[in-house]
Amino acid sequence: MMVGATRHLLIGILAVASQLGTTTSATVRSRDDSSSERSRCRYLPGDNEWPSLNEWASLNASISGRLIQVVPLGHVCHDPTYDAAACAALSSWTLPQTQWSDASGFTAAYQQNASCNPFTPQSTPCLQGNYVSYAINVSSAADVSAGIKFAQKKNIRLVIKNTGHDYLGKSTGTGALSIWTHHLKDIKILDYASPAYTGRALKLGAGVQGFEANNAAASAGLRIVGGECLTVGVVGGFTQGGGQSLLSTKYGMGADQTLEWEVVTADGTLVKASPTKNSDLYWGLSGGGPGTYGVVVSLTVKAFPDGVVGGANLFFTAAGISQDIYWGAVELWHTLIPSVVDAGAHTTWIVQPTFFTLYEITITDGTEALLRGLLKPFTDYLDANGVQYQMGVSSLPNYHSHVDRYLGPPPYGYDAASSLLEGGVMFNRSTFVSQNKKIVAHMRDMATTRDFFFPAYAFNVSRTPSSPNAVLPGWRNMLVYMESQKFWDFTVPFEEMAAQEAIMTNVVMPPLQDLAIGAYMNEADFNNPRWKQEFYGKNYNKLRAIKKKWDPKDLFYATTAVGSDVWKVAGDGRLCRA
Ligand SMILES: Cc1cc2nc3c(=O)[nH]c(=O)nc-3n(C[C@H](O)[C@H](O)[C@H](O)COP(=O)(O)OP(=O)(O)OC[C@H]3O[C@@H](n4cnc5c(N)ncnc54)[C@H](O)[C@@H]3O)c2cc1C
Ligand SMILES: *[C@@H]1O[C@H](CO)[C@@H](O)[C@H](O)[C@H]1NC(C)=O
Ligand SMILES: *[C@@H]1O[C@H](CO)[C@@H](O)[C@H](O)[C@H]1NC(C)=O
Ligand SMILES: *[C@@H]1O[C@H](CO)[C@@H](O)[C@H](O)[C@H]1NC(C)=O
Ligand SMILES: *[C@@H]1O[C@H](CO)[C@@H](O)[C@H](O)[C@H]1NC(C)=O
Ligand SMILES: *[C@@H]1O[C@H](CO)[C@@H](O)[C@H](O)[C@H]1NC(C)=O
Repeated sequence: MMVGATRHLLIGILAVASQLGTTTSATVRSRDDSSSERSRCRYLPGDNEWPSLNEWASLNASISGRLIQVVPLGHVCHDPTYDAAACAALSSWTLPQTQWSDASGFTAAYQQNASCNPFTPQSTPCLQGNYVSYAINVSSAADVSAGIKFAQKKNIRLVIKNTGHDYLGKSTGTGALSIWTHHLKDIKILDYASPAYTGRALKLGAGVQGFEANNAAASAGLRIVGGECLTVGVVGGFTQGGGQSLLSTKYGMGADQTLEWEVVTADGTLVKASPTKNSDLYWGLSGGGPGTYGVVVSLTVKAFPDGVVGGANLFFTAAGISQDIYWGAVELWHTLIPSVVDAGAHTTWIVQPTFFTLYEITITDGTEALLRGLLKPFTDYLDANGVQYQMGVSSLPNYHSHVDRYLGPPPYGYDAASSLLEGGVMFNRSTFVSQNKKIVAHMRDMATTRDFFFPAYAFNVSRTPSSPNAVLPGWRNMLVYMESQKFWDFTVPFEEMAAQEAIMTNVVMPPLQDLAIGAYMNEADFNNPRWKQEFYGKNYNKLRAIKKKWDPKDLFYATTAVGSDVWKVAGDGRLCRA
């Protein structure tokens, strides 16, 4: 059985190898059956084939000592490396800043697998688990290239990590060598001219985070399209996955802002990708999924003259009012979304079982009177039903001050706890309007009986971008993106939270998915069985072909990335060809 399966796969590999004219067939033939079976998998520490210390040392020497042997951040909470003070400092475990500053860190709790966190007993050993084995703290394209070549040659898993924010756990992997881009912080402000765009631009190193790009833009009287979470990386997952922003109704998706990418590809060479140069790679990187086509070292994006921004927020709790009035308010708010977005807005709100937060309405050039007018039917309902609320309205001179007010405090913004269960769907306008009662009834049921909550945002990016890109076509018809979340509870056994993940996939999401036109790959369920269709839609096959061309051996793997189904992750985390 095993041997038969091996032969079958070998034939496949040989056929592909001969088509590509590579030397894979020679390598495969020279091994006996069991080691060729293993060479279909990435090697792990402990395997005979795992690089020797000398080999790691020579990689390290070739990159000026920038190689890190990764020890999971939580090791200070476990014997024999327990350190009471250092462990206490990890009480901020779920905040992204705790994770991004360390080579090992990432926030996706399911993928952390409770193998080395501050919440398990001190006597429990710290296991490497899903944490990478080595990381290169890259400072240049040459460092990236050395890492890629080493991983290819030694048949070990490669991971790209920027901030580690990814909800699906894409920025980690068992036994991997990680390309850690966090310290690529260069920012240049440019006057840019190309057939597609003439104007100001920012050239951003791969490690630049939203708040850093915002600050640089503001200092030149400009603004750029970055995420709501100010610490998300602009160049990594955000823009490559699509990128939604407070400024999206005005300017489009993050991926609609791209002018040119600098990328180290799977063969270790540095290339440029723009609408006119390597345009297929440009198309795929701009919305076709992060961690899939190459390692980006920089991205140049459009920047716009700054100016007045109107805003509003509103908050109330369910205390002292009936559940029908509370959920009636949610339903009423939903009916106002089309008129709010048509006024040029982007808006974000969160429906919790016991409180409602309208985080922001953002309208460029909006006046306070406009915002009050848009909210009037909502405040009328709240007043009529005796709901006490807090509301704020503003019209500030620039985007920077608007961001500080609605997403602050600077620099990182509100405490964006991001160890959560995550799912999401996008609704088009007609469905969101006609199915409002049904959607809210399901939210109410899931909030009340399952304790899930629902962040959502609405905006309009229907406008065709200046250069074609791989953004999921559904975004162009989307009115509302709705997430389903639940905070990860680290104090209960891991299995209980894993069971909650299954409830999300099988109970919370399907009724919403049945009404949806897709999902945002960055804010979605990693277990979504419909991921190919929902995350990529009709772009999938074209993206797969682009990946085949630029990454013929499928070096770049991330869960639910294009082409990821050629690999399978085994129970011990080993990546093997499916
Ligand atoms: C609190 C919070 C709020 C968020 N708010 C928003 C929002 O407002 N709008 C929005 O659109 N999204 C938002 N997101 C989602 C966010 O866009 C994704 O989590 C995104 O993947 C983060 O990208 P990163 O590069 O910072 O993180 P990472 O986890 O480091 O990387 C994410 C993915 O990008 C890949 N990658 C990173 N750098 C590179 C590179 N240089 N080259 C190639 N691949 C790379 C990684 O391999 C991984 O697959 C939010 C997430 C969180 C946790
Ligand atoms: C790489 O070299 C630097 C500088 O010599 C050293 O500090 C570091 O520990 C080395 N990394 C590994 C993994 O050995
Ligand atoms: C996750 O934890 C389980 C239970 O401890 C273990 O069996 C499994 O191997 C772990 N996965 C990884 C990738 O380490
Ligand atoms: C990574 O490199 C940067 C400089 O590029 C340095 O400031 C930082 O301390 C390094 N981090 C680690 C963990 O080696
Ligand atoms: C977005 O705006 C365009 C132009 O005003 C409009 O035709 C379209 O219906 C809007 N889309 C949504 C989802 O509201
Ligand atoms: C809106 O989405 C629904 C799926 O919920 C689909 O059946 C319908 O055709 C879409 N309508 C428009 C106008 O795109």
